[in-house]
Amino acid sequence: MKTYEDMTKWIDRREEILHHGQTIGFVPTMGALHAGHVSLIKNARAECDFVVVSIFVNPTQFNSKEDLESYPRNLSADLALLDSLEVDAVLTPTEAEIYSDKFRFKITETQHSELLCGAYRPGHFTGVLTVVAKLLGLTQAHRCYMGEKDYQQYLLVHDMVHALNIRSEIIACPTAREESGLAMSSRNARLSSDGRNKAALIYKYISEATSCKEASDKLAENGFDVDYVEEHWGRRFVAASIENVRLIDNVKI
Ligand code: PAF
Repeated sequence: MKTYEDMTKWIDRREEILHHGQTIGFVPTMGALHAGHVSLIKNARAECDFVVVSIFVNPTQFNSKEDLESYPRNLSADLALLDSLEVDAVLTPTEAEIYSDKFRFKITETQHSELLCGAYRPGHFTGVLTVVAKLLGLTQAHRCYMGEKDYQQYLLVHDMVHALNIRSEIIACPTAREESGLAMSSRNARLSSDGRNKAALIYKYISEATSCKEASDKLAENGFDVDYVEEHWGRRFVAASIENVRLIDNVKI
């Protein structure tokens, strides 16, 4: 495990440590690691010489205190898993380290971030973009691996690095799914077994319905509280809650 300070020192000696052409792969996470994170880390391990994973439950991307407080946390299990995956450095910064500026500086995107989750979670993507920019600055990663489940997030981070000339390549990895089709998510841990079975309907309906309205209606009939089913960028997106757990997913159309 590396502290924020270790990481800063390591990065200062980057030229000495990294031999010519070696690369740093980075997987930013909020912990409660699952098979989706494992597949991101395996991709990073296969393609990069050093793999850095961060675990930081970023308060600025939560727009409800209750959601932040109930976000699953499982640091000791996460660290054991990362050890077994031969990750080179795990970064678990504190809020004071990440937000030493007290969130005076923020990165706000003004178009794509207004759609979908941005419309339902005001300020969410400003929190995400700001923390990812800080983490990319800290790790100086050549490659950063993100899941397609959060496709809007991936797209915004991808566009941000271009806009800000951050020298990291953002790589989208396919959504890891349970056998039922349910997209792997840390939030699934908050569902009862019945809720988990029902949650598989999200993938079923967005894949099978002939329109967004049909998918949305079917989810509502099955007890979901649907925020949206919409199509953008050649994909169909959904956000819907069951047992007060908000889940998102998307498929290519
Ligand atoms: O996808 C997540 O877990 C988070 O939004 C991220 C990218 C780690 C930023 O806090």
